[in-house]
Amino acid sequence: MQTLLLIRRFQQRIISHIERHITHRTVLDAGCGSGLNGYIFQQDYKAKVTLSDVVDNRHPLAQHMPFILSSVEKIPVTQVFDVVFLQYVLHHMDVSIKLDDVFNRLKLVSRKIIVVEDIVTHKTDIRKALEYDKQTNAKINQGDLYIGRYYSDADLKNYFEQTGLRLITEAVFQKGSFEDGFLDRKLYILTF
Ligand SMILES: C[S@@+](CC[C@H](N)C(=O)[O-])C[C@H]1O[C@@H](n2cnc3c(N)ncnc32)[C@H](O)[C@@H]1O
Repeated sequence: MQTLLLIRRFQQRIISHIERHITHRTVLDAGCGSGLNGYIFQQDYKAKVTLSDVVDNRHPLAQHMPFILSSVEKIPVTQVFDVVFLQYVLHHMDVSIKLDDVFNRLKLVSRKIIVVEDIVTHKTDIRKALEYDKQTNAKINQGDLYIGRYYSDADLKNYFEQTGLRLITEAVFQKGSFEDGFLDRKLYILTF
């Protein structure tokens, strides 16, 4: 229960941006981790949520929810969703996975993609950022997660452009601080 409270608190900053896109919608929570974000979308916003990840680390509260075991760039194209939610996944993917492949595959399962990411800026101290990321993941019961690489805002926008994705909304919903090594937290809502 404590984890759920913590996640509800973390998510408050982004909810005003995404609320209207998830309420009563079909949502694929890709790279869902514990699945508690999807669980909250289902409980609080009446979304119909499918979870997906490369490993099944679902919290007991999310065990009953539909789950697809798959890497995001290979997600089966058997169902179309109103929206895909991809939060803090890109920097945890194996570096051999190409972001073009990720976005091209997601376009086959939805016309709307919400990306939430840690973003590097010229101020970012990578060593401190990695430390903070590891501590945060441990706190929300996701253990010691692999970290591939962080992307800058320009990196991500290049991939969006290359894959024909158009930005509907973008927002830095949390500015980086000394504590997190100056990693910004940014949200992008995309369509095509
Ligand atoms: C920091 S967690 C984020 C979990 C959840 N989205 C959240 O916001 O709480 C990163 C997740 O990405 C998943 N992940 C890493 N590589 C992946 C891939 N190639 N395809 C799908 N998920 C992946 C990890 O297994 C992990 O659950």
